Amino acid sequence: MDRTCEPELMNDPVQAQAYAQADFSSANRLFLELFERYFPDHEPRQVLDLGCGPGEIPLLFAKRYPACHITGIDGAEAMLAFARRNLERQPELKGRISFRKLRIPAKRPSRRYNTILSNSLLHHLPDPKRLWHEIQRFGQPGAAVLVMDLERPASRRAARALVERYAAEEPEILRRDFYNSLCAAFRLSEVQAQLTAAGLTGFQVEKVSDRHLAVYGRLLK
Ligand SMILES: C[S@@+](CC[C@H](N)C(=O)[O-])C[C@H]1O[C@@H](n2cnc3c(N)ncnc32)[C@H](O)[C@@H]1O
Repeated sequence: MDRTCEPELMNDPVQAQAYAQADFSSANRLFLELFERYFPDHEPRQVLDLGCGPGEIPLLFAKRYPACHITGIDGAEAMLAFARRNLERQPELKGRISFRKLRIPAKRPSRRYNTILSNSLLHHLPDPKRLWHEIQRFGQPGAAVLVMDLERPASRRAARALVERYAAEEPEILRRDFYNSLCAAFRLSEVQAQLTAAGLTGFQVEKVSDRHLAVYGRLLK
């Protein structure tokens, strides 16, 4: 099936609440495991999470890598409100994580990072070039980059089957968003072409679950 874009920012408070309350622990765990597998010797110091949403991944990442500082950015205030609330519940991480409202493309990066993360942002962007371009602008030379996202299924029927398998008990708004996200996501070959066009030739993309793909690599310059 062809790609159908969905709204870029998750600004609707009801939608943000449904997302923030859902259980994404298995996908978040997968994200952390992939980072450890792809970058076993890397020491995350200054970390940027693009499209951080309610901030679950920054919170987990900060606990796993106690020497790092993380900036989570998102263009939707409704999501950031949940991220800040989640951080308040873990006061031991205060001072090591900050959440900022920023919509990419950003004007000019105020600093550069040695680690760039992003989960489930790519499929929200009408033009995927934006993400690859921002990663190059925000990353230090040698920065470790991990992007995970949904992969678009072959058909609407396959997308509906994934919604039934993973979100059968979820509220309708979350089921709708999941279905729309699957339809807005990219195929592995499309992401490969995006990386080549962006000059990210050393980056790899692979299928990492029945609904996710991951892109990883190090920036050269
Ligand atoms: C599906 S959520 C993923 C949230 C989080 N990364 C996670 O793993 O749960 C996608 C997030 O990207 C944000 N987003 C979409 N387009 C964006 C843009 N251009 N700049 C910044 N954030 C954006 C949305 O507001 C939303 O919070």
